[in-house]
Amino acid sequence: MIASRPVDVTVVPVSFRDLVPEITASAYLTHGLYYYPAKFIPHAVRYCLQQFTQPGDTVVDPFAGSGTVGLEACLCGRRAFLLDLNYLLDHIIPLKIYQGRLALSPAVLEERLHAIFSGGTEFHPHWDTIGYWYAPEILAGLQRLWGAQKQLPHDTYALVLEAALLKVSKHFSYAEHRLPKLFRSKSKRLYIDGLLQGDWQTRLHRQLRTQAQNILEDVNELVEKLNGSVPALVHQGGVDSGSYEFRPGMEFQALISSPPYLQAQEYVRTFKLDLYWLGYKQRDIQRITALEIPYRKASRIVETHTLNAVRAHLSSAKLSGMLDSYFCHTLNVFDNAMAQLVRGARACIFIGNPRVDGLEVEIWRVFMEYFSDRGFECEAVLEDRIKARQLFSARKNKNPDGMKSEFMLILRKQ
Ligand SMILES: C[S@@+](CC[C@H](N)C(=O)[O-])C[C@H]1O[C@@H](n2cnc3c(N)ncnc32)[C@H](O)[C@@H]1O
Repeated sequence: MIASRPVDVTVVPVSFRDLVPEITASAYLTHGLYYYPAKFIPHAVRYCLQQFTQPGDTVVDPFAGSGTVGLEACLCGRRAFLLDLNYLLDHIIPLKIYQGRLALSPAVLEERLHAIFSGGTEFHPHWDTIGYWYAPEILAGLQRLWGAQKQLPHDTYALVLEAALLKVSKHFSYAEHRLPKLFRSKSKRLYIDGLLQGDWQTRLHRQLRTQAQNILEDVNELVEKLNGSVPALVHQGGVDSGSYEFRPGMEFQALISSPPYLQAQEYVRTFKLDLYWLGYKQRDIQRITALEIPYRKASRIVETHTLNAVRAHLSSAKLSGMLDSYFCHTLNVFDNAMAQLVRGARACIFIGNPRVDGLEVEIWRVFMEYFSDRGFECEAVLEDRIKARQLFSARKNKNPDGMKSEFMLILRKQ
């Protein structure tokens, strides 16, 4: 079905940072524990929670990523239902949204660190080309540390050490650790060569300890903030949210979500090293890679007024295919989750306007047109100027200007 006429809407400029001044830093509490490309700013999520939900409501995020919506929901006394294709979700959430009432003990962490430094059975990631990413002696050192970590009791301390080990495993690799995208650089190779001239092992252990202590402190700050209330949430990583089967009768009072970007949504590739260290196998990685949105063939062609105008402008079949795939699968995910919303509930979708073939694509407008034909009314479109949001890399791409604004599309279920 085509939205034959454009839908009228006024875009309102806002600053979520100004609207939610109580959040003073995007990485407050445990928001900064894991780095994740194209993370939501917590201010935007908090704004929607405050405007459109009540305490006790359940919010769904089918593109949960690093769980920004989950943490903000729990801090506001809402329940969260989080899904993502990335298996990492199930490693991030138990730590980022720690459900214990008691603070973690630095002394226990220190004991566990000792156990790790004493070594144990080596752990070998199931990746034939892992050697490409490391100097052989560093790889062997990390295999001992990970082996020992995997023998620890499966509790929150093990998760703290897992998160810290992920950070040092990237830092001590040939992969550029200051950028999200996984790639080897010449400067990083020189850096590692330099480390190998000195006592790299002591340095690695020191860094692991510092990272783990910082993570523990952040988790303890969260425990203090929650003051005895236990967050209520469900999370499931490794799922395609477009075909996820919600329990019959499951209802949500809001959706707050930020889908992948039209181009450069390489989440699985970005986290490959992490996923192999976590113990995922080649076939697990292949399974989720095949489900990642830009790499799948479209199973239907979405048509809306704006999308058809963009299509008419594109010069290459490859770009049209990418566009078809993106809208088909992103909208499958939203259709699936939004079917579970109660009447009157809002769907708050946060997305930028990327450039394709020199043309700015108003993704929010395509979504708005699509859903206005499917029982949703557009309540508002808020434009937020981007201050800092790290996407994937500074590589040359088809969008050299980057995106200057992001848009919060607010739809109301009729
Ligand atoms: C923009 S990120 C979300 C970031 C998140 N809002 C945060 O604050 O961390 C988009 C997410 O979509 C996920 N994704 C891509 N394809 C998916 C699919 N078919 N089903 C579920 N999630 C998918 C990616 O793994 C990524 O985490």
